[in-house]
Parts: sequence; C-alpha cells; structure tokens
Amino acid sequence: MPLLIKNGEIVTADSRYIADIFVENETITRIGTNLEADADTEVIDATGKLIFPGFIDPHVHIYLPFMATFAKDSHTTGSQAALVGGTTTFIEMCCPSRNDDTLEGYNLWKAKAEGNSACDYTFHMSVTKYDEKTESQLREIVADGISSFKIFLSYKNFFGVDDNEMYQTMTLAKELGVIVTAHCENAELVGQLQQHLLAQGKTGSEWHEPSRPESVETEGTMRFATFLENTGATGYVVHLSCAGALAQAVAAKSRGVPIYVESVIPHFLLDKTYAEREGVEGAKHVMSPPLRDKKNQKVLWDALAQGFIDTVGTDHCPFDVAQKAMGADAFTAIPNGIPAIEDRVNLLYTYGVSRGTLDIHRFVDAASTKSAKLFGLFPRKGTIAVGSDADLVIYDPNYRGKISAATQTVNNDYNGFEGFEIDGKPDTVTVRGKVQVRGGKFIGDSSRGQLLRRKPQHF
Ligand code: URP
Ligand code: ZN
Ligand code: ZN
Repeated sequence: MPLLIKNGEIVTADSRYIADIFVENETITRIGTNLEADADTEVIDATGKLIFPGFIDPHVHIYLPFMATFAKDSHTTGSQAALVGGTTTFIEMCCPSRNDDTLEGYNLWKAKAEGNSACDYTFHMSVTKYDEKTESQLREIVADGISSFKIFLSYKNFFGVDDNEMYQTMTLAKELGVIVTAHCENAELVGQLQQHLLAQGKTGSEWHEPSRPESVETEGTMRFATFLENTGATGYVVHLSCAGALAQAVAAKSRGVPIYVESVIPHFLLDKTYAEREGVEGAKHVMSPPLRDKKNQKVLWDALAQGFIDTVGTDHCPFDVAQKAMGADAFTAIPNGIPAIEDRVNLLYTYGVSRGTLDIHRFVDAASTKSAKLFGLFPRKGTIAVGSDADLVIYDPNYRGKISAATQTVNNDYNGFEGFEIDGKPDTVTVRGKVQVRGGKFIGDSSRGQLLRRKPQHF
C-alpha cells in the first residue's frame, strides 16, 4: 500500500525542511508540499515530528559464539530492538573463529539471518586466519556482495590475526576494493597483562581496564594504520575509545592514509567506574576496548563534532547477568560486551544534539549517512531522497523518558544505561515503506529484512 507522510520536518546530513514524503513500491517516489493521497494510500500525520533517514548501525554482534558462551540475541530479537530504536539497517560482524572454515562460517551467519530479521542487514566478513583456502573463499564472499572485511588484532588464538595475516588480508582487500575494519588492541600485551594481574590475585572486573590500557589500543591503532600505509588498503578502526588511539588515527589520516574511525555509544557516556562496581554490577560493563577514564569522553565528543570520528555504532553484544557472572572468579572469563542497539540513536540525540552541541546534521551523518557511504549502501540507504529506500524514522523530539531494562525491547535482563534520561524517541519507523514500529512499539513483519549485497568501492 502506498504511504504518504505529511508535514514532517525532514532532517538529513545536509538539509532540513518541512515537506510531505510519498512512498510506493518500497522507495520514496515524491517529496513536496501538499502531496495528495489516493484512496488506497495510508496517510501518517508527522506534524511536530522530525523525519530522519533510517539509522544504520555499522557494528553489531547478533549471532556470536564467544568466550565460552553465545551472545543472547537472535536475528528476530536483535532486529526488533534495532527498529524500536530507529535503526533500520545493521552491519553484523560475521565472526567464525580461527578454528572454523571461513566460507562455512559465512554461510552459517547468512542462514541464521535469512528470513529472521525485521530490518535490513549486511555483514562485515571477519578474516580470523589466512591459510591456503582463505583467498579464494574471500573472493567468493566478496562476489556474493560482502564488501568489507573485519580483522581483530586482539583475542589471540580465537579471532585474532598476526601481522602476516593482517598484511595478506589488506593486500587482497586493496586488490578487490574492499574496506578493512579492525579491532585494534595488541593481543600479546593483553594476554601478558591479564596473566600478570591474575597472578597477583587481581581478579575483579575493575582489573579489566588495566589489563587493556590505553597504550595497548594506541599501539594497535598505530600498527593498523602503518599496515594500511604500506599496503594501500583503506581501513576503518572500530570502537575507538581513547585519546591516544585517536591521535594515531588522525596523524595517519593527515599524512594521507585512508583511515576512518568509528566510536561506539558506551564510550561516549559510560566510564571505567561502571566496571569498577561490586560483583556482577561491574561485569555488566565489561567490554573491549574497556570503558575508559572519563576524560576521554570530551575528546570523543569533540572529535565527533569535528568529523575526526566518522561514525557512531554500538558494538551491541548482549550477555545476560548469569553469563556475566561466569567471570565471578576471574575478570578474564567475563563475556565481553554491552548491548546498545535499541538506545544508540536516542542517547546520541539526547546527549549530543538536545543537551550537547552536536550539530543535528553531523548526528544524522554519524549515525546513518557516513556508514552508508563507507560501506557501499549510499544513496539507497542513509538519506531521504527520491529513489532511496523508504527507511524513515518519524522521531518525536518532545518525548521524555528514562532507559530501563523493565521497558526495553532488547533481549536482555539488564541495561548498561539504566536510568539515563532521553529527550526524544522514534514514534514510527518504516523499512522499505512498511511500517514496522508504530507508537514506539514493534508491530511489523519479523521477516521483512533483506541481506543488502554491496559492490566493492575501490576507494
Ligand atoms: O566487548 C566487546 N567489544 N565484545 C564484542 C567483541 C568485539 O570485540 O567487538
Ligand atoms: Zn571488537
Ligand atoms: Zn564488536
């Protein structure tokens, strides 16, 4: 059924105006004033609301075998929570371990998602080893429409690659025109520091951050940038958390290295004192790179405003309280991850735009448009324009509320942002023209989502 959204204030990465939007056959076909509805057209009055392009989360974990357990989400639960929070597309990390076959892993992740996602999705393909089969398998995966790789410089012997494997991955990525995303922490140092701390009886969650200090991430970022510089590949640092790492990325960029930066919402708003809380309360806030000293938050907000941080994702990775309690005797056994897929947009809007100084267009850019551009989805996604997919977020900027596990859609028994106030939330959300969220609740089709196949970009 055609859809007409009337009198909303359209806000994109570079424009802001009041207009009507007409949607037919999944795409936006007209934008103008006083557009007329046919008899069979659904009409939504968006007076007083903002209309944003569907938000894109460039970094989520949905299916994830990790740290002796599995992340809690299914594609059904994760995608519904995403939509309630205004995210209409996510990019999932497809993460077979070093012991798994890469192509089998890719097919497994695809099968998990297919027919089970309420929002659109694609994958970053993790390269967790580089053996005699890897090159041909990666070529096949890229030909299937996956134009971004992921490497981990941390998680030795599980997801982590060594320098040789990083070099091979980047060389192939350069040839194929594929962007390489990277978790940048020095695996060897993390392992040594963890053992050193545990040997001293330092077992609580407060020791997670000291086991992966800022210098460890700074070194990882510098090494990643140096390898990009010497292979010519284009890179994207995921979940950058601290000033030292940012300085390395900015320095590389200023000498011409094609490197982009993502930070994730926990690092903007939570600091390491959350992980220093007693018992499982601290464990709830363990992720990697860790929550940092609070002084880094202003650095991240400033860098976001200035565009040194390109995108804001979540690194959504839910484990429940019982799973977090697996690390009661050793912080190294706490499953790493904080869920945020439902809250990213509202938190960024509230603490960036509403209560901070973040320009609303930069907000849209960082939470949607820039990811669409970097990962081969623009202009199908990431903007509101004739011909683009009708992924639209009708946002109520007058809503006032608080984040709480008691009212969340996300499939978990706690929320790391419990009690945070929010100024605004999505009222209605469409995925390719179909209303999936109405009145702030998921009411849609759980199998609406499609795998978005992307072409290499040859940056
Ligand atoms: O703590 C985190 N970040 N968990 C998910 C895995 C990763 O490193 O992204
Ligand atoms: Zn990571
Ligand atoms: Zn991650």
